[in-house]
Amino acid sequence: MARVRVAVLISGRGSNMAALIEAARDPGFPAEIALVLSNVPDAGGLAIAQAAGIKTGVVDHKAYGKDRGAFEQALNAEFAKHAIELVCLAGFMRLLTPWFVGQWHERMLNIHPALLPSFKGLDTHKRALETGVKLHGATVHFVVPEMDSGPIIVQGAVAVDDDDTEASLGARVIQVEHCIYPLALRLVAEGRVTVENGRCRIANAVLPQAPYIVPDRIP
Ligand code: GRF
Repeated sequence: MARVRVAVLISGRGSNMAALIEAARDPGFPAEIALVLSNVPDAGGLAIAQAAGIKTGVVDHKAYGKDRGAFEQALNAEFAKHAIELVCLAGFMRLLTPWFVGQWHERMLNIHPALLPSFKGLDTHKRALETGVKLHGATVHFVVPEMDSGPIIVQGAVAVDDDDTEASLGARVIQVEHCIYPLALRLVAEGRVTVENGRCRIANAVLPQAPYIVPDRIP
């Protein structure tokens, strides 16, 4: 079966992009990473993608000044050139216009380092620690015009330890991210995700049976 052609958009180190590339190395994976684009010319992830033999490109937003539309047209031109069918945002630090988001309706995914709808925006681990939540995690969702919103496809949780720092908590969350992004892409590429009233329904999903309670037990 033809694999779904995916573009990954990055702005930085690209560890989630790398996880998607790694998953897609399996010929049985339903999507292929056909293109990695960065809006930052020296994003670390570009070298990782090139080393993996993936086509890369730079669409530098600075070249377009305040003209978001022209920047997005340039992204779309690259996507068209590579026959892209799905877009994955992976640490892509530009807000996208409703026009562009509409072009990729239910065909553009994002990963956010928190259990949405909690902690939208930046510094999620710091705010999770300040708030005192006992569960934190990451979310993959379809992109809608409003930032860090949109139908949730997959979430993964970690327990928050009393002694966690932003760094220690972030290190556990990023591991979750690297699991849930390939899973979400697989589900979407297999056509198993349908959106009804803003909610994702996943065909044949198997749920974990045990509840996740923090703390787990008191010795
Ligand atoms: C990740 O934490 C992702 O959830 C957020 O930006 C970070 C990107 O990290 N959107 P990386 O570039 O994938 O390593």
